[in-house]
Amino acid sequence: MSQQHSPSGSPLTEAAVATVAAPRRDWWRDAVIYQVYPRSFADSNGDGMGDLEGVRSRLPYLRDLGVDAVWLSPFYASPQADAGYDVADYRAVDPMFGNLLDADALIRDAHELGLRIIVDLVPNHSSDQHEWFRRAVAEGPGSPLRDRYHFRPGKGKNGELPPNDWESIFGGPAWTRVTEPDGTPGEWYLHLFAPEQPDFNWEHPAVGDEFRSILRFWLDMGVDGFRIDVAHGLVKADGLPDLGTHDQLKLLGNDVMPFFDQDGVHEVYRQWRQILDEYSGDRIFVAEAWTPTVERTALYVRPDELHQAFNFQYLGTDWDAKELRTVIDRTLESMRPVGAPATWVLSNHDVTRHATRFANPPGLGTQIRTAGDRALGLRRARAATLLMLALPGSAYVYQGEELGLPDVVDLPDEVRQDPAYFRGEGQDGFRDGCRVPIPWTRAGSSYGFGAGGSWLPQPAGWGDLSVEAQTGVPGSTLELYRSALSARRSQPDLGAGDAVEWLRAPEGVLAFRRGEFVCVANTGGEAVATPAYGRLLLASGEITEADGEAKVPADTTVWWTTG
Ligand code: NOJ
Repeated sequence: MSQQHSPSGSPLTEAAVATVAAPRRDWWRDAVIYQVYPRSFADSNGDGMGDLEGVRSRLPYLRDLGVDAVWLSPFYASPQADAGYDVADYRAVDPMFGNLLDADALIRDAHELGLRIIVDLVPNHSSDQHEWFRRAVAEGPGSPLRDRYHFRPGKGKNGELPPNDWESIFGGPAWTRVTEPDGTPGEWYLHLFAPEQPDFNWEHPAVGDEFRSILRFWLDMGVDGFRIDVAHGLVKADGLPDLGTHDQLKLLGNDVMPFFDQDGVHEVYRQWRQILDEYSGDRIFVAEAWTPTVERTALYVRPDELHQAFNFQYLGTDWDAKELRTVIDRTLESMRPVGAPATWVLSNHDVTRHATRFANPPGLGTQIRTAGDRALGLRRARAATLLMLALPGSAYVYQGEELGLPDVVDLPDEVRQDPAYFRGEGQDGFRDGCRVPIPWTRAGSSYGFGAGGSWLPQPAGWGDLSVEAQTGVPGSTLELYRSALSARRSQPDLGAGDAVEWLRAPEGVLAFRRGEFVCVANTGGEAVATPAYGRLLLASGEITEADGEAKVPADTTVWWTTG
């Protein structure tokens, strides 16, 4: 007898919803954490820019999707030179996103719905409009506030050359010369990112004191954790040594650098961990740490430091069974000795959405400018998601990926805002493409994003990908995510643990067992036959089962349970 199974999804049951609300220790070990990019999620006041009230209004959607926590990219007071990663006041909400009362209401509502809130902390650099930096410049050379950043005299006869040869990750030199109060060209300051993002000097005690206080401010507000921006960058090598020659640095790069992944950063996190542990409620830190290897990443999540670190090695892996298996094994092996959960991520606000990455030939990296084969990309993205959600540990979902959104690769230059687009040589500045506001409804102004326009134009046809268009539609990407997340709750073997048992599989196919759960991912271009391992739980495409065997099409992942 032959049976057809369509990829399908069912809305969350009441029982599943109840589990969301139940407090659980170590919730973060297998949590699914949803990244909200506030300016592009939901706009409550029709100004074309998403805001905190918009996020609050959509929390029930996130609860029903079945995620455990929400990570919000920065919403602090900021001139927005780098979309909020240039913070002018760490204790204030930027008026374009709302105010502290809105943040409070959002945190409270989330908790009532059983969702946790993780906020973004940006300790490597501030905005050049931060009070400390403004005063440092205004007070001139010798100002004690200059010691809180990296100010240096220039090289050359008249100090006209930068103090060293470091380049900004966004392109151009990592140093900018200030004009002193008397109008003369003066000292230079370090900025690993845009000139509007001066790097703090973490050797200065006031910097550490300030950030410990900022941590407490948000912990007192009730947040459940922090995502630490550029967690690997705080400490620079002594003497700021020259690099010698080097290619343009890449966002999420993994080269050994005198300004990244220095051993001194770990002392900062040991201190932070003590603060966090003073608070009740199982709160967490997640590190954005670009390191040369997963083994170096593991150092950030030793038991007395942070809880999780993003797995950028996984994010950078092509849709290829062999490569995926290598990175999965290496990740699990490197996390096991430190007892931290592995994390898995396919998309975020800095990289081309995975539906577009996988639509293109392999090896192009994470900043892609071509749409590629969209149908292929979506098929692979769905399969990649089911693979990711079957792995032990915690997974990150970036807003809109549950709709299968592609990157918008053809934004006109005049609307682009990514600072790297304007400074770089075109290699890393395409982040606006994954930041286009998401569609909630089939039609209407900005497809339900808000009552007005949207800060980046949404492409025609965006409404067909909307939440409204996909809700309740069997086989839609949204329902696939809902079913997968609901299954993660009902199948204890999904997410938990720190190992996978690999099963024999044809070339191009990954197959593994975890307790009563089996996952098969066919990354190859041809259908394959595998044993039907048990009761079919979910599949990212249409599979056929007959006589104990399953036919798994190209670029498809299947979940079975033997329980
Ligand atoms: C990493 C953030 O994810 C990115 O968006 C930002 O531009 C840099 N850090 C600098 O803060």
